Amino acid sequence: MKMLQIVFSPTGGTQKVADILTEKWTGAITRIDLSDGSFAVSDIAIQQEDLALIAVPSYGGRVPGLAAQRLGKIKGNGAKCIIVCVYGN
Ligand SMILES: Cc1cc2nc3c(=O)[nH]c(=O)nc-3n(C[C@H](O)[C@H](O)[C@H](O)COP(=O)(O)O)c2cc1C
Repeated sequence: MKMLQIVFSPTGGTQKVADILTEKWTGAITRIDLSDGSFAVSDIAIQQEDLALIAVPSYGGRVPGLAAQRLGKIKGNGAKCIIVCVYGN
């Protein structure tokens, strides 16, 4: 079973929340930065037995378009996932 953090956090706030929420997870965590355009998100391999935390910010009440677009290209394959949207400050 693989544990993943899939995060879009241009100014770092969402990443901080993701780190707090996963600090009790034991074992290696694969960190995927959705704001990093240097890799193809469609190449990310997630298996059914994996667990993913997906964390995105709210800008003006919406998930940033780039985050939504890149998330939409990831195949979840039935894995369990926790979705977090961070706002405020
Ligand atoms: C362009 C922009 C728009 C934002 N709009 C809102 C908003 O409408 N309401 C709100 O509560 N927070 C708003 N925020 C605050 C962010 O939701 C919050 O700081 C979030 O943690 C930022 O995530 P990041 O640090 O991972 O980029 C906005 C932040 C930015 C940069």
